[in-house]
Amino acid sequence: MKVTRALLGTVAGAALILTAGAFDAFAQKKKKSRCKDGEAETVATYKVDKGENLPAAIAASLTGKPGNAEKGVKWMVHRRLGNCIACHQVTSILQRAKDDDLASLRKYGFHGKIAPTLDGVAERYTEAELRMIVVDIKQAFPDANSIMPSFHRNDGFTRVIGDCKGLAILTAERVEDVVAFLKTLK
Ligand code: HEC
Repeated sequence: MKVTRALLGTVAGAALILTAGAFDAFAQKKKKSRCKDGEAETVATYKVDKGENLPAAIAASLTGKPGNAEKGVKWMVHRRLGNCIACHQVTSILQRAKDDDLASLRKYGFHGKIAPTLDGVAERYTEAELRMIVVDIKQAFPDANSIMPSFHRNDGFTRVIGDCKGLAILTAERVEDVVAFLKTLK
């Protein structure tokens, strides 16, 4: 009897350790998957001027080069990066979703409608203003207290998830890609 109990105790103990280990590994993996999409540790320095339609605008490309519009779409539909379509409707992105193709629907479909549509946005704002909006909307619309994230800032946030601390959502290059795509929305 004594032997069996001791044995059972050992088995239960080992099982506990194994489960705890597996859980730990799972938690670790889950945590690590949060900010591993190339978020930026450093942000570009930029000069803010007054815009034509907005109080703030960034005239110069953050990288000194123009961005790539097609890549811009990639960052805009990426669920952990731009995820712009969670809030904004964009007809030319929606048109990429095919009714009979679930993967394309998941990627390009299902746009939110809690923010203004981005259709025609290049007619409402200059390139410099669009850049300011993507970099840090709080400077572009200082009175709006906007729910839109500041995409090219790596400080000034509270309660940031562990490994996302000190990272900006979009790199300078990706901001330029997004701006290049926004410029096509006429
Ligand atoms: C959490 C929701 C949310 C997300 C995500 C979001 N936005 Fe916005 N955005 C807004 C809201 C709300 C406004 C309107 C300004 C305000 O806050 O009053 C706005 C305004 C804008 C405007 C100005 C539109 C206009 O016609 O005045 C642009 C351009 C824009 N967003 C681009 C983007 C891009 C590009 C992304 C992704 C990289 C993005 N937004 C992600 C909520 C969001």
